[in-house]
Amino acid sequence: MEQRQLENLLREMTLEEKIGQMVQISGHLLTEGGILTGPADTVEITGEQSALIGSILNKVGAKSLHRIQEEYIAGHPYHIPLLMMFDVINGMETIFPIPLAQGCTFSPELVEAAARVAAKEAAVAGIHVTFSPMLDTVRDPRWGRVMESTGEDPWLNAELGKAMVRGYQGGENEVLSGAGNISGCIKHFAAYGAPEGGRDYDNVEISERTFREDYLRAYQAAVEEGCAMVMTSFNSWNRIPSSANRWLMRKVLREEMGFDGVVISDYAAVAEMVSHGIAEDSREAAKLAIMAGVDIDMMSTAYLNHLADLVRDGEVEERLIDEAVMRILKLKNDLGLFENPFKDCSEEKERELFACVEHRELARKAAAASFVLLKNEGKLLPLDKQSRKTLAFIGPYAENTELYGSWSFPVKPERTVTIRQGVGQKTVGNSVKVVWAKGCPVLNEGMVTRMKYREDYTEIDLNRLMDDAVNAAKTADTVVMCLGEHRDQTGEGGSRAVIRIPENQLELLKRVRQVNDNIVTVIFSGRPLEMEEITERSKAVLMVWMPGTEGGNAIADVLFGDTAPEGKLSMTLPRSAGQIPIYYSQFRTGRPNRTGTKIGFCNGYLDESTKPLYPFGFGLSYTAFDYSPITLSRKEMKKEDTITATVTVSNIGDCAGTETVQLYLRDVKGSVIRPMKMLRGVQKVTLQPGEGREVSFAITEEMLEFYDADMNYVSEPGLFRVFIGTDSGADNYAEFTLMQHK
Ligand code: GLC
Repeated sequence: MEQRQLENLLREMTLEEKIGQMVQISGHLLTEGGILTGPADTVEITGEQSALIGSILNKVGAKSLHRIQEEYIAGHPYHIPLLMMFDVINGMETIFPIPLAQGCTFSPELVEAAARVAAKEAAVAGIHVTFSPMLDTVRDPRWGRVMESTGEDPWLNAELGKAMVRGYQGGENEVLSGAGNISGCIKHFAAYGAPEGGRDYDNVEISERTFREDYLRAYQAAVEEGCAMVMTSFNSWNRIPSSANRWLMRKVLREEMGFDGVVISDYAAVAEMVSHGIAEDSREAAKLAIMAGVDIDMMSTAYLNHLADLVRDGEVEERLIDEAVMRILKLKNDLGLFENPFKDCSEEKERELFACVEHRELARKAAAASFVLLKNEGKLLPLDKQSRKTLAFIGPYAENTELYGSWSFPVKPERTVTIRQGVGQKTVGNSVKVVWAKGCPVLNEGMVTRMKYREDYTEIDLNRLMDDAVNAAKTADTVVMCLGEHRDQTGEGGSRAVIRIPENQLELLKRVRQVNDNIVTVIFSGRPLEMEEITERSKAVLMVWMPGTEGGNAIADVLFGDTAPEGKLSMTLPRSAGQIPIYYSQFRTGRPNRTGTKIGFCNGYLDESTKPLYPFGFGLSYTAFDYSPITLSRKEMKKEDTITATVTVSNIGDCAGTETVQLYLRDVKGSVIRPMKMLRGVQKVTLQPGEGREVSFAITEEMLEFYDADMNYVSEPGLFRVFIGTDSGADNYAEFTLMQHK
């Protein structure tokens, strides 16, 4: 449609018909079935009302969505098509690693490719919009949704968020109506990732400076990349829930960031302003939300039941409704839905694309690249499939199909490659002998998860499981423990105060360690865990997060050395939850702790180190890399200059490997305190044994800008340090001076 046609359509619509476009309900309210991602009872709607709504969520599949769209358009007075929205967070039918794991690839290219596959599979399933990328900075692993973020660093999240937008929306030369393209949705605006205590939905208490420096950057980058939708977050910041925050929506998002797309609330977030205590009732909640600029009310009846009255009572200008509806109609038009309301929806294409070989291969590659090798004492890894040794794979994840994150539906577990299947395929026809033992259930009896969980064992069963495992360990040359938290101990509503693997699994590891000390531990998790008791008992530790459909194959590829591990931590691994928040870009303080342990009057704890177990950016390979001193193209920089920082990275080990070279900057003195390091560049290099390569980064004045003491976004003259290394602990640096701006 042309713009004037849209304007004509808007003029013809009644107030109720326009408001209908601003209402989104879950598909299960239209037809049986559907997926629930929030309370089911937040909406009661009549048939007449549901005939006017503008979009649905959580219904998926070409057959059902084609039928719903057909029926809906036929029944709508202007035959306006529905928008079909869904949480395609880490793949659709081909499940990729959770975003936190994808963050560990440090690879925008890989993340974009994964998002592209997700978009293609979602598009043929009838989806037009995905509620992704989630770009919340996360620094508290107690929060269940860290699994959904790409990690603790704003710069990396911005790079990977832009990559996801390109993957979903088809990149800069593409239009949303193009084949396989779906609209992205930046969420959760804003700063949902910093709830007090790591408790989901809790209040966020950070300064405006921290808010802007560390939480808004990634959202802004995705807006600049052209993401077509933004979702408001459940949390309050500055004591205002986001869906009611006019400053945040209209000044920051619309004016400063220049976002002109659709703003949707999170699930019932508009109605929840009553619970927050800033709206007397649903009517006041509707008024606060429309004044703040929420265009679509997801799964609440606030707009449905009160917006028309608010306009007729003169409390809300109809102009605000018209602006919101025009943005919604424009999104539908940009997707080409007026011309083709079914877009890519196709059962035949579903059969062709869902978990096809090409998609599985990418998922396998992405999973392997997301694994982080934390320890490899005595080069216990890689395992040799041609040896005459016996390997014992022990633990509740050894044959588990639930290797995918909590935002993976409508996944089919039988599609998942388990570790046993992956190792079996890898070792068939080879001399190595492999035995298997479950050892214990994933969870202790009675542990709580987000969703239902059942593994019924009698006391006798449990003892037998343990005995079988210990006996298997006794006869093995090397044990591979397959342990981890349950997928439903993470995700929305999955915050944990104790971030450890279930005690029964730790007991299994202790019992096995008593009879065998050649232990490799593979850890499944949706978050950084307290892991010292695991690393102390293991010679090698591989963090595999929630790797998805091809998890078993990818784990076998890395364990047997067909693929070298290259992942780097996208989130700091603490020694203990008591250190939280702990992240690499913290501040020096007036009394820095130089040794990590508590001595005298300095920053730190009496009973814990200030150092993490493993820092952001850390990850081993099967080889070793050496870094030359850093050279800078100049020691002084004017505003318009570019400095080139160069190192030579050499593979000094005995096998090929991929190193993620990281550039960090430090502003030694500013008008406000500055982080000890800030990630500002990443390059991945694959080197053969003995090979060296020069790696250069361009440093510009823009990379030095920050919010000064007066909240002006500027760079300040003075001394800067350039660190280039293998992780955020890099201590080799060079210095340059930014000269006074003329
Ligand atoms: C959920 C989540 C949000 C998701 C939405 C729709 O509550 O907070 O991330 O996209 O509802 O499922």
